[in-house]
Amino acid sequence: MSKTLIDNVFEETLKYLEGMPKEKRKAIGQFFTSVETARYMASMFVAPKKENLSILDPGSGSGILTAAVIERLQGDSTVKHITVTCYETSEDVLPILKNNLAYIKANSVVPVDFDIIEKNYLTSQSDDFNADNNNAPKYDWVISNPPYKKIMKDAIEAVSMPSVCYGAPNLYFLFTAMGLYNLDADGELVFIIPRSWTSGAYFQRFRDYLFKDGTLKQIHLFVSRDKVFEKESVLQETIIIKVDKSRTQNNIKITSSNSNSDFNNISTIEVPYSTIVVGAEKYVYLVTTDDELKVLQSLNRWNNTLLTIGLKMRTGITVDFRSREYLRNEPEQDAVPLLYAQHIKNGKVVFPIDKDFQYITTEKSGLIQRNKNYLLVKRFTAKEEKRRLQCGVYLSDILLEYDSISTQNKVNFVEGVNFDMSEKLVYGLYVIFNSTIYDQYYRILNGSTQVNSTEVNAMPVPPLDEIEKLGSALMDANDLSVSVCDKILGVLLNE
Ligand SMILES: C[S@@+](CC[C@H](N)C(=O)[O-])C[C@H]1O[C@@H](n2cnc3c(N)ncnc32)[C@H](O)[C@@H]1O
Repeated sequence: MSKTLIDNVFEETLKYLEGMPKEKRKAIGQFFTSVETARYMASMFVAPKKENLSILDPGSGSGILTAAVIERLQGDSTVKHITVTCYETSEDVLPILKNNLAYIKANSVVPVDFDIIEKNYLTSQSDDFNADNNNAPKYDWVISNPPYKKIMKDAIEAVSMPSVCYGAPNLYFLFTAMGLYNLDADGELVFIIPRSWTSGAYFQRFRDYLFKDGTLKQIHLFVSRDKVFEKESVLQETIIIKVDKSRTQNNIKITSSNSNSDFNNISTIEVPYSTIVVGAEKYVYLVTTDDELKVLQSLNRWNNTLLTIGLKMRTGITVDFRSREYLRNEPEQDAVPLLYAQHIKNGKVVFPIDKDFQYITTEKSGLIQRNKNYLLVKRFTAKEEKRRLQCGVYLSDILLEYDSISTQNKVNFVEGVNFDMSEKLVYGLYVIFNSTIYDQYYRILNGSTQVNSTEVNAMPVPPLDEIEKLGSALMDANDLSVSVCDKILGVLLNE
């Protein structure tokens, strides 16, 4: 064979790309897997133990993933026959897919049959999915690069799979849920998808579904250790997962490569299942190095979270641009301070600063909160900033004359739910959230630049009295720097 099966598909895909505007493909979430990634994904399946292997490639595009698995099976001595089912709805790409599959069939050493289903992969099977019955076909291997596309909550795909949707979903996780449904009890699923589902409330129902039936076996990450790749954020946000239905939660293999075109230098670590899939929320912690693993293990010694010790992080209550009529530049009567992220300066909340609209009238009760001690944490930081967690101590007595204040919704705050936090408790929280290890922990949990209060509320923290001790130590040190916080927390971590 002069040309490999996958080379041929790749050439045909390039021709297709030349004639197809990106905008048109974007509208249906049509992006193609690179040859190297397709080959790597195909290599992730364990060696088949069956003579007749059934494979599913939903959203198959030009068929590159199918080509990669067939190519991988060329030298296999066990498999005698392969059947591949491809789902594809794009009329533009279907002729290419058909041609490519015909080429593969004609050139494959192992006999292969194809079934192209020109139907919507999700809605055509949703009745069976929702009934959770066994009517739909099950496959040994399910491989996919599904469409990544946010859809409206009343889109037909969302409405047809209500059990995994919350708010406006994304097609990629509906495909993954359906893929798992189509997976045989002894089969394996390999998908390349964004990492956004690994945390966050919008993906909770999907995570519940995934981990009810599925067990994570491997996660592959694209980690650019090379500065040149830093702009290619797409690389960092996509992961490959391998899932089966075995229910044996052994170690998860975590692999990482520098880019999606170079799989020659792969780093591998094996991590206990419970370190990666954590808590009732089933967040997935994406560690790639032993150092990151140590960060997780170090903090996971604590079973407490802010919520279990009576504290809570919330998002600031005032959306300033929607409350314009209540905002004031001057401290006029019946107006109270409105705290923004900009008021956080060197670890403290400083008020007032040189800024418009720093006051808000008290007419609307939903826009004010009690003036008490808080720890403020910025919600948004720029990608190039060193730290995700940036916080400031707010002590009510700096604005003693006010009973109430307000917080803009671009800042989060931590408060006591049924009690007022003491000064040393606020400083203790500052030690935690200003430390390097908590910043690292948060980054492992969430790849975005946003600090999400639901996720912070699920992070492990020391018991309340220990946090107060941290606070006392910081007050004695009289230095709010990261290095001092690291030192103080380090003492507790090394006990
Ligand atoms: C991200 S592309 C991946 C294509 C190919 N699997 C690859 O890896 O290069 C996803 C494909 O799914 C198709 N698609 C989108 N929505 C679909 C649906 N509801 N049912 C079936 N296919 C769909 C798109 O036309 C597109 O070709």
